[in-house]
Amino acid sequence: MSLAGRDLITMSDLSTEEIRALLDTAGQMAEAIGFGDAGKRHASERLDRIMATCFFEPSTRTRLSFESAMLRLGGSVLGFSEPGGSSVAKGETLADTARTVSGYADILVIRHPKMGAAKVAADAAEIPVINAGDGAHAHPTQTLTDLFCLKRRFDRLDGLTVGLFGDLKYGRTVHSLGATLARLGSQVVCIAPEQLAMPKRYLDEIEEISGERPQCVTSVDGVLGELDVLYATRVQVERFPEEEREGARAIAADFVVDAALMERAPENMIVMHPLPRVEEINPEIDDDSRAAYFEQAHGGVPVRMALVAHLLGLLEDERNAFRGFERRGDERPEAVASPGRARQEAEEGPDSASAERKCRNDRCITWEERFLAGFFQTMPCGEVCCAYCEEPLEEED
Ligand code: NCD
Repeated sequence: MSLAGRDLITMSDLSTEEIRALLDTAGQMAEAIGFGDAGKRHASERLDRIMATCFFEPSTRTRLSFESAMLRLGGSVLGFSEPGGSSVAKGETLADTARTVSGYADILVIRHPKMGAAKVAADAAEIPVINAGDGAHAHPTQTLTDLFCLKRRFDRLDGLTVGLFGDLKYGRTVHSLGATLARLGSQVVCIAPEQLAMPKRYLDEIEEISGERPQCVTSVDGVLGELDVLYATRVQVERFPEEEREGARAIAADFVVDAALMERAPENMIVMHPLPRVEEINPEIDDDSRAAYFEQAHGGVPVRMALVAHLLGLLEDERNAFRGFERRGDERPEAVASPGRARQEAEEGPDSASAERKCRNDRCITWEERFLAGFFQTMPCGEVCCAYCEEPLEEED
């Protein structure tokens, strides 16, 4: 297996075997840095590699854990964390930005409010690009972090029942996590108010993989007893139209994990949350041994160390992965298409790029980015979708 030179835009860029290998490496990284110990270590040698973090949307955990990961590997970091901090504010396209940055760094981590933006950057950059969240679309490194936490808590990733709880419509973490859990042999239950239900296409994807459509309910009460994990999420208020924000906050009030709920919950059911939390988890449960969310967030460092090391081709000889990183050659891996993109290229018909046919999703990067033709691909479920945000071309029923 080699991930060297590849991008990570959605979880379908990784095979199940690659996901497992990444988590194994993350386990080794955790050991190497002393994960969970008071004093943490970092690589004894300097790593002659630079990570660029280009964040057009707020972030605490994702950006800082990526930067911490790169620093612990011995490398260096540069970037910006304000949308106004780059020449995009002057009207530069995202593609030009990514192409430019790829001359300044060896790996690019990007977060952007528009769905499909990470793919635009990956198509333009000549270095590996990691999607650190693109609007309501995907957040693959959060999924890897979530899996790392699940593996530490349960010592397995199959046979688990995970209740996805809260804003399943706009929450990108659950979009990436649901189908991945299905691939690993675990089951998902969607618990959300009707207005924030899991979009059809993600349910289709899970059904396509597992052969079963996830159970969708509007209250946790009837399913709580079956859960191994309650995965709470924040209502993504910033993705609602201005006039609906107040209403969204009000709906969220019914989707709270507190001591009373934990009393009714199974003894071994853990609570996860990608964080930040607003009102969804009452701090009164923070000291409950089932509250796993801060441990989950901290796991982002070894997980991102593993991912970066793989994409930079630092771990080609797995046996030597942790000997102070002394085997670093000067060779940079060639940029290669990830399997997801390769598949898309193979499926690309003569009509798939079209200047007239626009993605119907107004949150898609294709509406904002100039010089980008509409581009559509057939998904495994047979539906024709935008190649950037992956929203179906036709309206969902
Ligand atoms: C999430 C995100 O940005 O999608 N946070 C994170 O990366 N840990 C969840 C959120 O913002 O609600």
